[in-house]
Amino acid sequence: MSQNVMESRTWTSKVDVAEFEQLPKHLQALLKSAHHAADNAYAPYSQFQVGSAVQLSNGEVVQGSNQENMAYPSGMCGERVAVFAAGSQHPGVTMEAVAIVSPSQNAIADAFMPCGGCRQVLLEAERRQGTPIQILLQVRGEVVTMSESAANLMPFAFDAHGLGGETPAKIK
Ligand code: THU
Repeated sequence: MSQNVMESRTWTSKVDVAEFEQLPKHLQALLKSAHHAADNAYAPYSQFQVGSAVQLSNGEVVQGSNQENMAYPSGMCGERVAVFAAGSQHPGVTMEAVAIVSPSQNAIADAFMPCGGCRQVLLEAERRQGTPIQILLQVRGEVVTMSESAANLMPFAFDAHGLGGETPAKIK
């Protein structure tokens, strides 16, 4: 530890990697729904299509896809479109899982991880409902990367409540 450092804080995180065919049928269906949603992506600038599907506790599935704009920052990520649509169409209904996929040939790894802004939005949806949201990520192929909660993907998140001195559980 270098001089003048009072303490160090470490965030530990975990994702699980599974074969698509090994997943329970309802998660396979959710991933397929996200792939269908990607067909509606509007990504002429990045050519990076993203599809998302939110599984709600009432059985409904809400889809979203990224929607870009000529004025680049005006566009919106696919998972945020889906989560905001779920929140506006089914207020108060628990989000159990969110699948986020990209069929894009530009995706270079097994999974792409949601951007920071989307992680913050997923985290707040999770905190608001008080139960974890499972995150499923898939690019091409059979490999699915899963996180048991949004919080697990969002180390040292912005937290206005934390300003009051509360220490998030995962920070040691
Ligand atoms: N994108 C998403 O839809 N989700 C993410 O988590 C990261 C990026 C979109 C935004 C943009 O339309 C394209 O992918 C390239 O950044």
